[in-house]
Amino acid sequence: MTVSLADIDLSDVAFWERPMAEREEAFALLRAQPAPVRFAEPDISFALPGGTGYYALVRHADIVEASRNPEIFSSGRGATAIHDLGPEFGEYFGSMINMDDPRHARLRRIVSRAFTPRMIGRFEDDVRKEAGRIVDDLIVKGPGCDFVTEVATKLPLKIICDMMGIGAEHYQTVFDASNIILSGGDPEFIEDVSRAAELLLGAGQRLQDLVVSLAAEGGDNLITSLTSANIDGEKLTMQELGSFFILLVVAGNETTRNAISHGLQLFTDNPDQRALLLEDLEGRLPGAVEEIVRLASPVAWMRRTLTRDHEMNGHPYRKGDKVLLYYWAANRDESVFADPYRFDIRRAGGAHVAFGGPGPHFCLGAHLARREIVVMFRELFTRLPQIRSIGEPVRLRSSFINGIKRLECDF
Ligand code: HEM
Repeated sequence: MTVSLADIDLSDVAFWERPMAEREEAFALLRAQPAPVRFAEPDISFALPGGTGYYALVRHADIVEASRNPEIFSSGRGATAIHDLGPEFGEYFGSMINMDDPRHARLRRIVSRAFTPRMIGRFEDDVRKEAGRIVDDLIVKGPGCDFVTEVATKLPLKIICDMMGIGAEHYQTVFDASNIILSGGDPEFIEDVSRAAELLLGAGQRLQDLVVSLAAEGGDNLITSLTSANIDGEKLTMQELGSFFILLVVAGNETTRNAISHGLQLFTDNPDQRALLLEDLEGRLPGAVEEIVRLASPVAWMRRTLTRDHEMNGHPYRKGDKVLLYYWAANRDESVFADPYRFDIRRAGGAHVAFGGPGPHFCLGAHLARREIVVMFRELFTRLPQIRSIGEPVRLRSSFINGIKRLECDF
C-alpha cells in the first residue's frame, strides 16, 4: 500500500487529479474500514453556512440499501451538490433529481413515458443514421483529431436536442452551458472561482431562456408535452419547466459523452477485449457497454441526507447527516465484482450501480444511454475496427463527473 488513510481527502480537488491507480487504492482502503469515513465539506463561497461534513459510502451494499430507503436517505436537500445551496440555485437546478416522493414521482411520471425501451426503440433509426454520419465526418477529418469533439460529444447532444425540439443552431449553447454546470469548478470552464456562482446561474439562465422560446414555438417534442402536462390538476410552473429542461439536457449529454470516451480508452488499453468483441460484435456489444459504464462510472456520486436517526450495515447515522453514494467506488467493490479493476466484456454477475442504485431516482435515461453507446461502438468498430486513443486523456478536474475533456485518436 502506498496510500494511507491520512492521505485521503475526498473534498480536496487535488485528490481527483491523482493517478487512477492511487485513487483506486484509496477507495479500496476506505471500503476496508470498519465504519464509513467522514470528510469535511469543500470550501466554496456560495454554500449556505453550517456544512457539517459527509460520510463517504463506498461499499456496494451500503449504496444499494441507502437507495432502497429513500424516505430515510432523502434527495430533497440536494442530491447533486455536497453543500446546501441557496434558493437562487433552486430556480434552475431544483428539479426532480433533488426532490423526494410524492412530488418527485409526479414529475417523473410526466416524462417517463418518453424514455421507455419502446419509445427509445422509435429513435433507433435516427441514432443509427447519426452515428453513421459521425463516422463519415471522422474519416474525412482523419487521424489525430479529438475523439471527444468529433465523436463522443455529437451523438448524445444531437439525440437529446432532437427529443426536446432544440435546433442545431442552439447546440453550442446547450453544450457550453452543460459544461459549466457539470464543470465541478474545473478552471477551463470556471476560470475565476470567485465568479463560480455567477457563471453557474448564468448557464442556468441561458438554458431557461432557451426553453421559454422553444415552448412558445410548440411542435411535437418533449417540451410541448411538458408545457401541456397536467399533474393532479396542476400545470408545471415556468420554474419547474425550466429546471426540468435543464436536468434533461445536462444529464442527457455529458454522461453518455464521457462513457463513450472512456470506452475508447478502455479498448485501447485492453487489446484482448477488443479482439474478443470483434469476434462477435453483435453478441458481445451489450455486455461490453455495461462493462464500460461500470468502470467509467461517469457520475461518480450522488448525495443523500438522513431524515432520521438510523442504523445501516452496523453503523449508526444521525438525522441530518449527509452521505455521498460513491457509485464509482461501489462499482469496484471486490466483494461483488471478481477482479474488479479488470475490463472484462464477458463479466458475469454483479450488478453495477453506475445508473444509480435500485430506487426511485434510478437513471431515467439508462435505456437511451445504453442504446447510444451500443450504436456508436457498433458503427465505429464495423468501419474502423482499429480506432484507438493516443496519448493521455485530458481529464475533467471534478470529483462529481468522471469526465474526459480531450482524447486524441488514431485509426
Ligand atoms: C452513461 C450515461 C448515464 C449515466 C452514467 C447516468 C447516471 C445517472 C445516475 C447515477 C443517476 C441517479 C441519480 C441519483 O442517484 O440521485 C441518474 C439519474 C438521472 N438521469 Fe442519468 N445517466 C446517464 C444518462 C442519462 C441520459 C441519456 C439521460 C436522458 C435524459 C439521463 C437522465 C437522467 C435523469 C432525468 C435522472 C434523474 C432521475 C430521477 O431523479 O428520478 N441520464 N443518472
